[in-house]
Amino acid sequence: MSFQIIEQAPARLNRSELAVPGSQPQLFEKAAKSDADVIFLDLEDAVAPDEKEQARKNIIQALNDLDWTGKSMSIRINGLDTHYMYRDVVDVVEQAGQHLDLIMIPKVGTAADVYAIDMLVTQIEDARGYQKRIGFEHIIETALGMQNVNEIASASRRNESLHFGVADYAASTRARTTMIGGVNKDYAVLTDPDLSGDRLTHWGDMWHYAISRMVVAARANGLRPVDGPFGDFSDPEGFKAAARRAAVLGCEGKWAIHPSQIDLANEVMSPSDEEVTRAKLILDAMAEAESEGKGAVSLDGRLIDYASIRQAEVLVEKSQQIAS
Ligand code: GLV
Ligand code: MG
Repeated sequence: MSFQIIEQAPARLNRSELAVPGSQPQLFEKAAKSDADVIFLDLEDAVAPDEKEQARKNIIQALNDLDWTGKSMSIRINGLDTHYMYRDVVDVVEQAGQHLDLIMIPKVGTAADVYAIDMLVTQIEDARGYQKRIGFEHIIETALGMQNVNEIASASRRNESLHFGVADYAASTRARTTMIGGVNKDYAVLTDPDLSGDRLTHWGDMWHYAISRMVVAARANGLRPVDGPFGDFSDPEGFKAAARRAAVLGCEGKWAIHPSQIDLANEVMSPSDEEVTRAKLILDAMAEAESEGKGAVSLDGRLIDYASIRQAEVLVEKSQQIAS
């Protein structure tokens, strides 16, 4: 390990993150009873300009009056380039900040964006005498945000997680798609018919680099990487495939833009019994190897060593966090 110790963000279950428009209060009660780990009440892109003010009021009332037990509560504020942002922060944190665990900052572009919100939130918390500090979740969804992702990730002690906002990221990078996440038939390779006989098409994952890049910045700063939305809520298999790809790359969770996606995200983002059993076998085998003075042994014909202990511990710790 490096001499530099990575301080980890507070442990928080973040397998599913349900998006609920602040302008639709009729959805709040159902959301509060759902199995989502985190809920963000949205003031940004799901809310039309004329509805922003009422959405803020709805959110303040709901945070104060509804029973959100068992959930981490967040609000997605408007971007720093809008005049809505300061009131989102001031009104909601002043009037309901004690019920807020997180603030989600969209389209964050630089470390200075994070600093600005940190300053504002700190002043409000101090003025109100709140004891609990509100954490930050950042959506990496612009070319600028991705370019500065390391600096953003280390910009505040409030930082808890980075989220990949695929739709805005596509717009910002001018990617040729109008889908929200998922695959694209144009991002494919054709096999060479001289080598493969037939000419086959293999679809690739056009989001691979962006998610991996964000995962590295998040983990290097002790934050949770979370994959963002999958727009086609009538395609559960497509959602699960996207969530599995993100999980394999290190993401801890995925957004649910529809209640039907909550269970899917929770399922994919929880290590399976099979994975946990295998991880425990690795830990047992390595403990035995160590007692015999060996650093590497074979388990079922495969090499395992000290790195395998660290991999296995990640899975066992996650299953313990879910069970607790
Ligand atoms: C989320 O905000 C996205 O743009 O995908
Ligand atoms: Mg967005």
